[in-house]
Amino acid sequence: MRLPVFFVSLAASAALAQQCPEDLVRYFSQRNEPFSPGAYEYPYQRIPEDCRTYKVPAIERVINEAKNNTIADPDLHWLFANTWPSTVDTTVKWTGYSADNPKEELAFIITGDINAMWMRDSSNQLQSYKAVLSSSDDKVAKLFRGAINLQARYMRRSPYCNAFQPPPESGIPPTFDHADGDVVKPEYDPDFVFECKYEIDSLAAFLQLSYDYYHATDDAAFFAEFSWKEAVRSILDVSKGLMEGTYAEDGSINASPYTWARKSTASTETVANKGTGEPVNGNIGLVRSFFRPSDDSCIFQYFIPGNMMLARYLKATADIMDTIDEGMATEMRDMATGIEDAIEEHAIVQHPKFGKVYAYEVNGFGSHSLMDDANLPSLLSIPHLGFKGNDDPIYKNTRDFVLSRWNPYFAYGPVINATGGPHLGPGNGWPMGVITQILTSDDDDEIVGGIRQLMGSTSGLGLMHETVNSHDETVWTRPWFAWTNGLFGQMILDLADRKPHLLKKSYQ
Ligand SMILES: *[C@@H]1O[C@H](CO)[C@@H](O)[C@H](O)[C@H]1NC(C)=O
Ligand SMILES: *[C@@H]1O[C@H](CO)[C@@H](O)[C@H](O)[C@H]1NC(C)=O
Repeated sequence: MRLPVFFVSLAASAALAQQCPEDLVRYFSQRNEPFSPGAYEYPYQRIPEDCRTYKVPAIERVINEAKNNTIADPDLHWLFANTWPSTVDTTVKWTGYSADNPKEELAFIITGDINAMWMRDSSNQLQSYKAVLSSSDDKVAKLFRGAINLQARYMRRSPYCNAFQPPPESGIPPTFDHADGDVVKPEYDPDFVFECKYEIDSLAAFLQLSYDYYHATDDAAFFAEFSWKEAVRSILDVSKGLMEGTYAEDGSINASPYTWARKSTASTETVANKGTGEPVNGNIGLVRSFFRPSDDSCIFQYFIPGNMMLARYLKATADIMDTIDEGMATEMRDMATGIEDAIEEHAIVQHPKFGKVYAYEVNGFGSHSLMDDANLPSLLSIPHLGFKGNDDPIYKNTRDFVLSRWNPYFAYGPVINATGGPHLGPGNGWPMGVITQILTSDDDDEIVGGIRQLMGSTSGLGLMHETVNSHDETVWTRPWFAWTNGLFGQMILDLADRKPHLLKKSYQ
């Protein structure tokens, strides 16, 4: 519709709003002008400034400064500028204050193409801005606090769930297309919860987000202000309940604190034994998970990377709890130590080619699954999680295994060599897998090879995708996946720190 000129000038904001892309999935599936000056000719995929959901001057400053001083290759810089701001540009759906306490900040951050807030995705989406989070009074700090408070609300009320609806304060209506028909115990309120797959790393993600904020700002006082402690209480209680095994001492069956059932033709969207899963040997120190960070169901419920992540962040956030409740801080450290010991005892297995490696999943009876999936937390990401360094001998064996054709979910071919997973099936590599490989590598050739793979597998769209077919660059998934975009930026900033000379190279 053409508006009369005088009307446009009077209604400047309405005119600007008109230029905002309505359908971001479609927008990010097309090549938007202008194009990068190098051989890759990436499109410019940031949405117009006035359409962005949350503006952070510090992020713009880092992008601009990187162009002059840090990243020599014009295409690589362009890709960084397209990807890193994805979360703030497109997914901060709402920020505001709690109806219960006008001082309590809230931030509702969606995953991208789905209108819901995942515990895992939102924690990782924000982690990509940790580099620009330094004091408790900037815009990034506000976003972290808002997300921590909202996650704490989710965690207190529905601690088994993975993805959540907008808070009522936002006025954004909930959506119900995803989990309709799921039969879940304990029951949940669908106006509050978007999907209720219990995943151990959702618990750990809340702690990771808390730690990232605390580590960057030293602001321990914030955690005593609202209900953070009660959210951690939920995490400890849920974890304890899920350390119990299938059988009681006398052989009777323990009631599972959580069960999940869905009608599906995919085995990764069902849970064996009437929604309780494969039997597990109980009270060995490991915490069960029903689903993986891919949202696929576990084969064996002691999901090892998730247990590693939980142990690491229980310890890290016990330092915060010291200032609030010493008894609980001790409980957190004890649980973490118990998990660590159990990993040593139950999760290290002998591989016929690689020697001692960490299993992906175990059941505590001696059965295990040897594989890796690209979604974080993964085995490949152990040093990124901070559980063990990349010089740990068992990690090194595990890494060699994961990045080889012995990993049943390693996708390889002319387009990408990367870990994948059953979520989108064999033969599809995840850019997130390559990014994790770079984040955990000290080897210049490996890092340069990884950057080239990432630059060469965007299907001309200049963004990170969820998966790319290892033999066909035009076959890929999810045009608007904020988590991996952010992680690519995080990787660039990490390299600027650790390996600055690799960003001074040309990648043409
Ligand atoms: C980058 O370099 C250009 C041209 O030399 C200069 O005009 C600009 O101020 C510089 N920007 C930053 C952020 O250093
Ligand atoms: C993947 O690895 C194979 C060797 O195993 C190599 O020939 C191929 O070029 C690699 N693909 C990419 C995208 O680097």
